[in-house]
Amino acid sequence: MINETVGIIGGSGWLGGSIVKALLAKALLPAGKLVISNRCGEHPLARQGVCLVADNQVLVDRSDVIVIAVRPEHFASLNINATGKIVISLMAGIKAQTIAERTSASAVIRAMPNAAVEIEQSFTPWYCAGEVAAATRNLVQRLFESVGTAAQVQEEDFIDYLSALSGTGPAFPALLMTALADQAVAAGVPADIARLAAKNVVVNCSQLLASHDPRQMIDSLVAYRGVTAAALQTMTEGGFEEQVGRALREGAAVARKGL
Ligand SMILES: NC(=O)c1ccc[n+]([C@@H]2O[C@H](COP(=O)([O-])OP(=O)(O)OC[C@H]3O[C@@H](n4cnc5c(N)ncnc54)[C@H](OP(=O)(O)O)[C@@H]3O)[C@@H](O)[C@H]2O)c1
Repeated sequence: MINETVGIIGGSGWLGGSIVKALLAKALLPAGKLVISNRCGEHPLARQGVCLVADNQVLVDRSDVIVIAVRPEHFASLNINATGKIVISLMAGIKAQTIAERTSASAVIRAMPNAAVEIEQSFTPWYCAGEVAAATRNLVQRLFESVGTAAQVQEEDFIDYLSALSGTGPAFPALLMTALADQAVAAGVPADIARLAAKNVVVNCSQLLASHDPRQMIDSLVAYRGVTAAALQTMTEGGFEEQVGRALREGAAVARKGL
């Protein structure tokens, strides 16, 4: 059970709403200790006993911990004074120092969940700017464990880099699944079969990696010296790993520059 009152600005959105639902479902927080806001002041979550407000300062005043779950481009218009409070930002590309300056929070934490919060399967790295009490770090960890796994990182830059890695959630697998299916169709495989095959590889077979080391998995499959070896060798000789590195660097550069 979390004892603090948690306010989520943008708590009706994809990430904010998923966190609210998980906290309630796991009874980590009674609905009466949850405050959420959006611009219209309406959302079905209010019918579950969550306090929904349209005024973000009212949310801040009623909360001990404030989670900012609005899109980065909406941050500038929030105008909140969170003096003496803990602010946790989920926003990509906005530095902890900027958040501290604009909110006057006593502690700022940057966290980077992903879209899998919806199924409680996110990985959420988080970073504390400055000294933060152990009780606060414990609260942050538990908050994000309600929607998956979480880990503290020691450098803010890791949040920007990981925005392009785990922050992208299902994007890389979706790209792979689409490419596999499209290429199979181009090779003459019926579209429904191509989609089933590609989905099986990305969604089902990848679950083996939950309990197997990926490097050992590659080595053992390549050891057959057959079809898989030929396919993977083409990928690696074609610069697959370098391409992944470039993609992550490019995404991280956008996060570092700010959105
Ligand atoms: N989605 C992802 O996969 C992902 C991954 C990593 C990080 N993030 C970060 O998470 C944050 C939220 O993303 P999201 O996908 O959850 O966005 P979203 O679904 O668009 O949710 C944003 C919420 O903010 C509300 N909002 C906008 N302006 C507001 C204001 N001035 N006051 C109060 N509420 C306001 C919106 O509601 P109204 O329009 O009704 O006001 C909406 O419910 C972003 O900063 C993003 O960088 C997202």
